[in-house]
Amino acid sequence: MAVMVVVAFMSESAMSDPEINLLNKGCSQYNATNLSNFFSNLNATFSDLRSQISSQNKKFATAQKASTSDPVYAMVQCRDYLSVAHCVSCFDAAVSQIRNCSAANGARVIYDGCFLRYESNGFYDQGTLPGNVGVCGNRTVSQATAFYTAVQGVLTNLKIATPKINGFFAATKSVVVSSSTTVYAVSQCAETISESSCQDCLTVAYANIQICPPNADGRAVDAGCFLRYSDTAFFADNQTTNINPFLGGGGGSSKKNAIIGGVVGSGGCLLLIVAMILWHRLSRRSKLAPRGNILGASKLQGPAIYRYKDLKSATKNFSEENKLGEGGFGDVYKGTLENGNIIAVKKLAISSSRAKADFESEVKIISNVHHRNLIRLLGCSNRGPDLLLVYEYMANGSLDRFLYGERKGALNWKQRFDIIFGIARGLAYLHEQFHVCIIHRDIKSSNILLDDDFQPKIADFGLVRLLPEDQSHLSTGFAGTLGYTAPEYAVHGQLSEKVDTYSFGIVVLEIVSGRRCNEMTTESTEFLLEQAWKLYKDGIHLKLVDETLDTNEYRGEEMKKVIEIALMCTQSPVSTRPTMSEVVVLLVSDRSMEVKKPTQPTLIDKDKKVHNDTNTTTSSSTSNATASFTEFAGR
Ligand SMILES: *[C@@H]1O[C@H](CO)[C@@H](O)[C@H](O)[C@H]1NC(C)=O
Ligand SMILES: *[C@@H]1O[C@H](CO)[C@@H](O)[C@H](O)[C@H]1NC(C)=O
Ligand SMILES: *[C@@H]1O[C@H](CO)[C@@H](O)[C@H](O)[C@H]1NC(C)=O
Ligand SMILES: *[C@@H]1O[C@H](CO)[C@@H](O)[C@H](O)[C@H]1NC(C)=O
Repeated sequence: MAVMVVVAFMSESAMSDPEINLLNKGCSQYNATNLSNFFSNLNATFSDLRSQISSQNKKFATAQKASTSDPVYAMVQCRDYLSVAHCVSCFDAAVSQIRNCSAANGARVIYDGCFLRYESNGFYDQGTLPGNVGVCGNRTVSQATAFYTAVQGVLTNLKIATPKINGFFAATKSVVVSSSTTVYAVSQCAETISESSCQDCLTVAYANIQICPPNADGRAVDAGCFLRYSDTAFFADNQTTNINPFLGGGGGSSKKNAIIGGVVGSGGCLLLIVAMILWHRLSRRSKLAPRGNILGASKLQGPAIYRYKDLKSATKNFSEENKLGEGGFGDVYKGTLENGNIIAVKKLAISSSRAKADFESEVKIISNVHHRNLIRLLGCSNRGPDLLLVYEYMANGSLDRFLYGERKGALNWKQRFDIIFGIARGLAYLHEQFHVCIIHRDIKSSNILLDDDFQPKIADFGLVRLLPEDQSHLSTGFAGTLGYTAPEYAVHGQLSEKVDTYSFGIVVLEIVSGRRCNEMTTESTEFLLEQAWKLYKDGIHLKLVDETLDTNEYRGEEMKKVIEIALMCTQSPVSTRPTMSEVVVLLVSDRSMEVKKPTQPTLIDKDKKVHNDTNTTTSSSTSNATASFTEFAGR
């Protein structure tokens, strides 16, 4: 019956349907003690929920049979803009779908239109839980940067306003600057959670949904909240919420959004560390009481395990001819699997017992990193004589080839800007949006791979965590590369996510100039950063721009802004460098949102290069390096 209803409604227009587009589904694995009792209780709670939403016109309802031996707690939530009939159809669809979790005593189904969940214990107060994810559509919009800015603005406002709104629901829209596109967005929290849980949940959802733009639509799902945006109207104009009174200062201009975004962004890493601790606690608790928490159980997946001998034959026994490159962590080989798929196999040069012990857990973390600007880890092999990592293969190879290697001059300015923007987004995700704050520590042009469309993908992230503590510092030459490494990290080993911001700034200067950062040229006896700073100080920084670029392809103002952002990223002290999410905002904002004047970076004296010598001990390399940094006089 329910299925028939679904089909009938599916053919109707977007604005009047129960929105049975399945976003997420999970079952818990634990069996109730007496299934027949449990299911009769479940049936009773479902009919209770159904009557609340159909006859009492509720968009949110809970029901439970808690006083029996096999208790059931259930909750349904429809988006507020659904009519009663559509809410009920969405609920019915969810009920039929949730029955697939046959012997489970907990399950959830999330559609665009509604959310149904039941458990054998109370969960109404749960906000954000592991298993929270972004779910993106597959259409992309044309004016990506303007769209991105508009989406950020709308979602930031919703994140701020929704916890303060009675009923925890808001729908709003915003026109994309200089286009005919409109962004529609909604957010919703479960009515039974606290205001602060709603806020925390939406903060996580906001971070998760960042993987979606420039896709035309995206959602973030979690136990206690929901966030969705689209370029297509999915609610009527008269159903929008006036969120302005809840924004504080009655505003909502894009400038303000950017500032709020920035402030939130800089707290991101900290917040995620807190979230991680919370998760750790929760997962420990769920081990003690293995009931209920399906959200964690169903999501964090392990990497695929490959057989050593399959990878060995795929790479022709790790032959020289298949070798793609040599990195700090080991050599990389091109491989062709029996099914014809082409992969890249990294043979790790790490063999400490700690690395082997940590390998599985670290690889599990890395394999759950999904972002369009980060290389996908497909799987690993840990049973053979070497630890092997299997990655997606990028036919275009690394960015350095296109800047100053054999394909110099092949990239136009638009492609270069997209690469800069993509790297910034990938790093912002690693630092602030993934549930563990990952600092890359070795951002450089040869670690940026390009896909078939010349979109950048950052490689080699997360691996440094496999190194023993004392080896992860520059004294071994392992993490960090001369010229790209932030001075405070190179000299004092001070590590923060701003170390990546610095290296990003250097890569941007390389992209703009087509020059290697740590080489002098015939025209200039200075390293790239020093040259860039001097040209900027004299107001002639356009002289830095790669001569192979067609001057008709870019606006001088835009190019200057990019160079100034790169210089901001290389400033000292560390606190003056922007976070990567602030960089993303700066890159897409127009000139009027003034880029702050960069201050002078710490420059490396060219006569006394920072030592990067494997043989020196940590303490002596530190003192040598300190001596070789010179602050230039005057600002
Ligand atoms: C489940 O409970 C019902 C009634 O409480 C009882 O009749 C039935 O035998 C129980 N089933 C099992 C498998 O224990
Ligand atoms: C619960 O409802 C389903 C679907 O209507 C039915 O198949 C099942 O037999 C019911 N279970 C109990 C214990 O009443
Ligand atoms: C769940 O069950 C329904 C009805 O039997 C079926 O149509 C649907 O494909 C199932 N879904 C999954 C994910 O197994
Ligand atoms: C909203 O607009 C629709 C037509 O677009 C109309 O049918 C409906 O009654 C309106 N709702 C309210 C609350 O004004």
